[in-house]
Amino acid sequence: MAPKPEQRVLAEGLSVSRLTRGNWQLAAKHGPTIAEDVAIDGMRRFVEAGITNFDCADHYTGVEELIGTFRRRHPDLAARLTVQTKIVPDRDVLSGITRADIENIVDRARHRLGVDVLDLAQFHWWDYATPGYVDSMIWLAEMQAEGKIAHLGVTNFDCARLEEILATGVPIVSHQVQYSALDHRPENGMAALCRDHGIGLQCYGALAGGFLSDRWLRAAPPAQAADRSQQKYRLIIDEFGGWDAY
Ligand SMILES: NC(=O)c1ccc[n+]([C@@H]2O[C@H](COP(=O)([O-])OP(=O)(O)OC[C@H]3O[C@@H](n4cnc5c(N)ncnc54)[C@H](OP(=O)(O)O)[C@@H]3O)[C@@H](O)[C@H]2O)c1
Repeated sequence: MAPKPEQRVLAEGLSVSRLTRGNWQLAAKHGPTIAEDVAIDGMRRFVEAGITNFDCADHYTGVEELIGTFRRRHPDLAARLTVQTKIVPDRDVLSGITRADIENIVDRARHRLGVDVLDLAQFHWWDYATPGYVDSMIWLAEMQAEGKIAHLGVTNFDCARLEEILATGVPIVSHQVQYSALDHRPENGMAALCRDHGIGLQCYGALAGGFLSDRWLRAAPPAQAADRSQQKYRLIIDEFGGWDAY
């Protein structure tokens, strides 16, 4: 039998498998539709293999609901699961955002996932020029105190804004960032900042959506992106120096 993947303690009361199952690829409009039964069966196999931490987001259309369905169909496996979702207010509501806007996203996630308490809520803010991210984190900490959220995290913040949030005393336990052979940005201070504050770094894009694999070695670039991942990571390749450099 294969060894179970290691666990990592992100915070007191939050131990997760070191490998996380990402679920963006199941979202509507990411790429070709994946049938519900196939998606649920994939989740079952991951949990049985010991990959018991699932990542999702309020804007991964249909994914929180799918995980909720998985939990109802497999209550025994659901008991081993930790789920981290993302709280990502739409760009058009950032200006003038209210506590109720944030609470609606939290309550919707609890309802879709079928849980009373979110294991880990990871907050993202699209536009630093629009104020509101510090207030939003304080509101999330209030919802944590009310028992709707067990732990708080962030995703795709820069050092200055994460420090601003930390200065309020809001307890952040994890930061999800892109980190790969193409994208070393977390090495420019973020890894050190997180280490100093006991914040676990969670890395996505490790395979650049599949571009960092034999399949693309010495191959021509795709004429057209097959899915949202190829769109996203093609932009990273272009920023990194273009297809030839890649
Ligand atoms: N916080 C954020 O902003 C953010 C952003 C993006 C993703 N995420 C999270 O991270 C999760 C993972 O997504 P990612 O973007 O980080 O993807 P990734 O791990 O960089 O790439 C995954 C893709 O790599 C390909 N792949 C996997 N194993 C392979 C292998 N052994 N050989 C060749 N290709 C292989 C598959 O694509 P093919 O099937 O096409 O080959 C797969 O879909 C998401 O589901 C989401 O939960 C978070």
